Amino acid sequence: MAAAAAVCEVQAGMLVGLGTGSTAAEAIRLIGAARLAIEAVATSEASAALARSVGILVRDFAEVARVDLTIDGADAIDPQFRAMKGAGGAMLREKVVAAASDRMVVIADGRKRVETIAGAKLPVEVLPFARRYVEAALRPMFAEVVAREGQGGLYTTDNGNIVIDCDGAASTDWDRIAAWLGSVPGVAGHGLFLNEVDAAYIADGGVVTRMER
Ligand code: A5P
Repeated sequence: MAAAAAVCEVQAGMLVGLGTGSTAAEAIRLIGAARLAIEAVATSEASAALARSVGILVRDFAEVARVDLTIDGADAIDPQFRAMKGAGGAMLREKVVAAASDRMVVIADGRKRVETIAGAKLPVEVLPFARRYVEAALRPMFAEVVAREGQGGLYTTDNGNIVIDCDGAASTDWDRIAAWLGSVPGVAGHGLFLNEVDAAYIADGGVVTRMER
């Protein structure tokens, strides 16, 4: 329901950013079914493949500087529109596409609307070369620092990096944590979306609520 409401914002001629995850996948299917004259960029290889399979023209984001509208899921979103993302491992490309977007909307069910994003794990994308160094740097800041496992070894992102999931932050000063993470060599990205989200469609109990920042 949240995906269907957000897809109403998509208009012919737009360049649309396609998010990643199960909720974003629903939006991609609906955009494909609508047969609108749009082009898209995708935040993951999986979303690009899904989009192409439903007839959406997917452009290479490397050749794109600006996106009209991005629709993406989230793991948690608070009343200040701060979101935690990356349970699906796509947070770095999601962040870049969100930053390039004139408007970024989150679609989610009511369980994702929270008073504080502290309850969600913070995924940190890390250059494999820097794994142990970054783990050691993260430990004083988080109670739990765990490299994500994939099939037959460490999980690898579309960018060839690993993900370290962090839980139990020592502080909820997310701006400070985000700035600090950005200063750690070897950290390629993270799942804190503090300024990117413009609006959210939340489906709860059969009703969709739209919230604007
Ligand atoms: C992908 O890396 C994530 O940021 C997803 O957008 C997020 O985990 C939400 O996914 P679901 O819609 O599957 O819950």
